[in-house]
Amino acid sequence: MKAAACAFGLMGILLVGCAEPRVTSLSGPEIYVATCATCHGTDGLGVNNAFPPLAGSPWVALPDSLLIRLALRGLRGPIRVGERDYNNVMPPNDFLSNEQLAAVLSFVRREFGPAGPAGSPDITASQVAVERARFEAGPMWTIEELTRSASARR
Ligand code: HEC
Repeated sequence: MKAAACAFGLMGILLVGCAEPRVTSLSGPEIYVATCATCHGTDGLGVNNAFPPLAGSPWVALPDSLLIRLALRGLRGPIRVGERDYNNVMPPNDFLSNEQLAAVLSFVRREFGPAGPAGSPDITASQVAVERARFEAGPMWTIEELTRSASARR
């Protein structure tokens, strides 16, 4: 996976060290390729039983706040996506800036969201800032913890 991430450097995205992607782009599709596609696939279809699809996934349609928290802090443990069960680990994406996370999540919603473009308003950098201040610190979520965090007091 690291090798694949490094190979994306050839596509004009600056990656330093390749320990974790250092992405300088502010373009949603480019950030997707650099930080999500190695696992979820450029087509968003995922990889067999290891990496779940984003295309058509109900989780992509989570409320904005929860989708941001998921992407920021990562996810572990069992989750059902469509007809399949997964039990794997998604590392945090906290190295992305608020603008970058907003851009990539907006892209993911538009490209892969079940509701389609009309039902997928963009996520903004200020929304990411709010969630980052409150929820960036901590272990990777389980899907239960993430869902429960919806009722966390503001
Ligand atoms: C290292 C591989 C990896 C990377 C990189 C990665 N993910 Fe994931 N992602 C996973 C895995 C594995 C799961 C399921 C985790 C589990 O089993 O609990 C997951 C789950 C998800 C889910 C919920 C389940 C679903 O399929 O809808 C969303 C949404 C998601 N990822 C979005 C993203 C976004 C957006 C990015 C890039 C910013 C990203 N992921 C980067 C591996 C990855």
